[in-house]
Amino acid sequence: MILRLSGTPNPKQEQFFLAHARHIAYGGARGGGKSWAMRRKFVLLAFRYPNLKLLLLRRTLPELNENHVLPLQQELAGAVQYHATQRAFLFPNGSRIKLGYCDREADVFQYQGQEYDVIGLEEATHFTETQMRFLTTCNRSVRTDFTPRMYYTCNPGGVGHAWVKRLFIDRDYRQAERAADYVFIPARVTDNPVLLKNNPQYLTALENLPEHLKKAYLDGNWDVLEGQFFREFDRSLHVVSPTRLPMEWKRFRAMDWGYNDPCCVLWFAVAPEGRVVVYREMYLRRTLSSEIARRVGALSEGERIAYTVASPDAWQQRGLKGAEGESIAEVFAKNGVPLLPADNTRVAGWQRIREALAPAADGLPELSIFETCCNLIRTLPMLTFDSHDCEDVADNCEDHAPEALRYGLMSRPRPAQKQPQKRVYRYDPLSSAPPPYAGFRGL
Ligand SMILES: Nc1ncnc2c1ncn2[C@@H]1O[C@H](COP(=O)(O)OP(=O)(O)O)[C@@H](O)[C@H]1O
Ligand SMILES: [Mg+2]
Repeated sequence: MILRLSGTPNPKQEQFFLAHARHIAYGGARGGGKSWAMRRKFVLLAFRYPNLKLLLLRRTLPELNENHVLPLQQELAGAVQYHATQRAFLFPNGSRIKLGYCDREADVFQYQGQEYDVIGLEEATHFTETQMRFLTTCNRSVRTDFTPRMYYTCNPGGVGHAWVKRLFIDRDYRQAERAADYVFIPARVTDNPVLLKNNPQYLTALENLPEHLKKAYLDGNWDVLEGQFFREFDRSLHVVSPTRLPMEWKRFRAMDWGYNDPCCVLWFAVAPEGRVVVYREMYLRRTLSSEIARRVGALSEGERIAYTVASPDAWQQRGLKGAEGESIAEVFAKNGVPLLPADNTRVAGWQRIREALAPAADGLPELSIFETCCNLIRTLPMLTFDSHDCEDVADNCEDHAPEALRYGLMSRPRPAQKQPQKRVYRYDPLSSAPPPYAGFRGL
């Protein structure tokens, strides 16, 4: 059986293939052929060195399957055996590529005591610094023909933004870190002719992003997403798998109205001890208010919703473009979804979210979010500080879901048992990232 791997590396991918430092990062923008390069490099290494042990990780299982398990199965079919229960590719020369994911912070500990010659972190900025440091301890080898290596692909933004930027972009090394061990090969979508040819709309989509995201994802600028507003947000702490919530829990909704911008509606449930769960999200663009109201009603069928708060513009804007008369709020009311004006005090609202994200005395935060609320989970960690007001969010961020969250939480009384001064933060003083309380006045 002859394995024919299709495709030739573009010049940037070739640089990635040829690098052999201890830590090699690739990318820094969207669409530069990062996942392809990572997969292909792993396969080439596995064939080149018999009995090599490789571990390829992504943060979540669906991403891992889509980006690596399925493409590798196709590329290696017939030549390399796939062991589904181990989630590993077993090569005829004894090499082995194991694939894994580390959804929760502690998931990395499953690799405790294991040794891998090569470890790859796909979308490294989705990993926390603690996870990266732990995985580095598993990257060791007793071989004489190969020194251990870590490979990273990355985009700006995400919980790991600060450590990836420090090591590979700013090249600011501390303690035992040595500059010579870190190599970064920048690649952008324009370095990937295959994607530009097959999917030219991808470039247009990147060009049409809001300015700060365009700078980050198209140009690979790591500074624009620097000042992450909610550093308290932690997937492993705040994002939970959906469960059936007791019917007697109080439920309410919050909406950030938008037509050209997305309209976001969030559904909240409150547990008896006051913890709040965001259990559903609707995120629609260019949809008429009557249609949104209808869908909101349909999704809530069988649930008792106490109230729905909405952004003040729902009372200012008209339901149909150019039409006289009805405001968005009136259209909603007519369609069975009466709205209440939300408390729109921005700084207090953001502070309210910060408090809800901070772990209470028992280590658990007041707020959790079902993992199905993808846009809230995606955009909350992407908010950045306003450069003129350290207590507010920059106004060029995609903030529709966080705004709805702010309205929702502001409609609730503050939990009495919470003592904000005693918040427990996970803060690594070795990290160059600003402390998580950055943005609080007077601390
Ligand atoms: N050298 C290559 N040869 C063939 N196809 C490639 C090559 N590099 C990337 N691609 C394809 O381009 C598309 C985008 O690449 P991908 O690796 O997913 O980018 P990224 O991970 O940077 O977003 C994918 O369809 C991928 O298979
Ligand atoms: Mg990718």
